[in-house]
Amino acid sequence: MSENSGPDANPRSLLARIRALDPWFHDIDLGPELKTKLGPCADEPSDHPKPTWELLKPYLPADLSGQSVLDVGCNAGFYSFEAKRLGANRVLGVDVQRREIAQARLAAQILGLDVTFQRTSVYDLSIADVGQFDLVLALGLLYHCRHPLLALERLFEVTRGTLIVESAVAPEEWTGPPQARSIGGLVRRLVPAFYIENDPDAAEAVYNWFLPSPASLAALLRGVGFGGVTHVAVSEQRSLFVCTRNADARSDTRVKSYKARLVAREAVVSTPASDVIAFTVRVWNLGTATWEASIGREEERGAVLLGVHLLDAAENVLEWDFRRYRGALSRTVRPGEWIDMEVRLTAPKSAGQYLLELDLVREFEGWFEDVGGTPLKVDLDVRG
Ligand SMILES: C[S@@+](CC[C@H](N)C(=O)[O-])C[C@H]1O[C@@H](n2cnc3c(N)ncnc32)[C@H](O)[C@@H]1O
Repeated sequence: MSENSGPDANPRSLLARIRALDPWFHDIDLGPELKTKLGPCADEPSDHPKPTWELLKPYLPADLSGQSVLDVGCNAGFYSFEAKRLGANRVLGVDVQRREIAQARLAAQILGLDVTFQRTSVYDLSIADVGQFDLVLALGLLYHCRHPLLALERLFEVTRGTLIVESAVAPEEWTGPPQARSIGGLVRRLVPAFYIENDPDAAEAVYNWFLPSPASLAALLRGVGFGGVTHVAVSEQRSLFVCTRNADARSDTRVKSYKARLVAREAVVSTPASDVIAFTVRVWNLGTATWEASIGREEERGAVLLGVHLLDAAENVLEWDFRRYRGALSRTVRPGEWIDMEVRLTAPKSAGQYLLELDLVREFEGWFEDVGGTPLKVDLDVRG
């Protein structure tokens, strides 16, 4: 037991703290007489997730030295601790449930392992808040997600290297194979998945919402941007997916997507009327398309540039494409990279409270918001 175990390090008081957080879903060895799990929990056997860890290990590097790991839906932290033991330098576990995070923090303290746990939903993960990780684990998570595509998009955003998904899946005999069908005159490949209709009187902390077939989950993973998706059938109803971002643009067959996240250092910009407004915006490329440098290409069709709309404080548009301002990229920005851009333009001539709405544009083709992006709003205080 490490000195991190603190003043309550005697086994009886530690056991009392463990029991106060019952029931445990994870069987974690915390020391002699310190059992986390007392029996099967939520249909998983008493030793869960030890057998799953043995299945998973061959797909992980034997040594995670120098790597960062994010464990999403970490529960009491079993996999986060194993990643730390494989040498990972930064390990973050997130889970939506408060008690599970309390369990994980207590286990980390008793084990003396430097792993951070925070209560965060998969839907709230962002590159701006947590950064990107070499290895992301999403084990036993996806079927609990009511918004599976949003969850996968967020997982893509925070993955620098590899994502490993472990999930319940519908056997192919339930769904049949993918089929080409004509929809509105276009022939498309349809891959089936199930929505689970929960009983009105069901009472679970986290429901099951979605049961993909292996083919549909692989298609969804490709659809959010993963270049390499390898399916491993663990059993008839469980599968692993090992997914990588595709670094080699030449062999990249993914649909090109344009998606950005914009973050300003200042929440409010204040300036005299008609003076120059200057502030910096950090812009992440979260899509699958590479943005080429655009200085000197401001008039070129398809060039990626920064533009601004002027809104009043109630968010009514005062001037769309304000002053036709364009900020150009000083260098190429690949998927997963960010660039700081300085915005410089002349403030409105009337004093008042405004909003600047910043968005990227593919020149003469369309704003990023039109393909599902979220522009950044910055408060603008113009003094008289
Ligand atoms: C079946 S357990 C799997 C736990 C662990 N990853 C494992 O494989 O043993 C699912 C976990 O996902 C968490 N979870 C459910 N919805 C979530 C969400 N939206 N964001 C983050 N975690 C979530 C639950 O609280 C639970 O701890």
